[in-house]
Amino acid sequence: QADVAGDLEKVLVTEEQIAGRLAELAEQIAADYEGRDLLLVGVLKGAVMVMADLSRALRIHVDMDWMAVSSYGSGTKSSGVVRILKDLDRDISGRHVLVVEDIIDSGLTLSWLLANLRSRQPASLEVAALLRKPEAAKVDVDVRYVGFDIPEEFVVGYGLDYAEKYRNLPFVGTLAPHVYR
Ligand code: PRP
Ligand code: MN
Ligand code: MG
Repeated sequence: QADVAGDLEKVLVTEEQIAGRLAELAEQIAADYEGRDLLLVGVLKGAVMVMADLSRALRIHVDMDWMAVSSYGSGTKSSGVVRILKDLDRDISGRHVLVVEDIIDSGLTLSWLLANLRSRQPASLEVAALLRKPEAAKVDVDVRYVGFDIPEEFVVGYGLDYAEKYRNLPFVGTLAPHVYR
C-alpha cells in the first residue's frame, strides 16, 4: 500500500505552522471570552482535527457540540446544497457559540450554517476557521478567527478530504492532479 503522502503535490501548511497558529488563536479566543461560557460547535467531519487541537490549546472551560453538514458529496466543488446530517444535541439559545471549521471555500456552507444557528438565538455567534480561500468566496462571511488565507487550490489533510480520504494527514497539502483527474 502506497504512502498516503505520495498522492500530494506539495505541503501548504506544516504541522508546526498549524500548531503555532492555533496557539495564537487560542490565546486570542481565551482573552475574548473571558468570564463567558463558551460553546464550541465543530462542523463534522472536516473540523475534527481543528476542534481537537484548538480546544486543547484553550486554557478555559468550554462545552463542545457537533453538527454534521455536507455540501460537497464526493466531488471537488461545492454544490451549495447543504444537508444537515446531524444536528446539535442541545439548545444554544443564550449561549456564546463559536463555530469551528477547517476551511471556508465558497463560504456557502458557513453562510447557510450561520443563518441556521442565528435563528436559534445564541447570545453571540462567531467563527474560527483554520483555512480560508479569499479568491473562492461566493458569499461574504464574517469570520472572527482565521488561521491562514490560502490560494484557490484543492487542499486536503488535517481533516480535509477528497472523496473521504486524506483527512488523517497531519498537515495541509495540495493533491497531485493525477489523483483526481
Ligand atoms: C467542506 C469543509 C467545509 C466546507 C467549505 O465540508 O469542511 O465545511 O466544505 O466549503 P464552502 O465554503 O465552499 O461551503 P464538506 O461539505 O466537504 O463535508 P466534510 O467536512 O464532511 O468533508
Ligand atoms: Mn466540512
Ligand atoms: Mg469534504
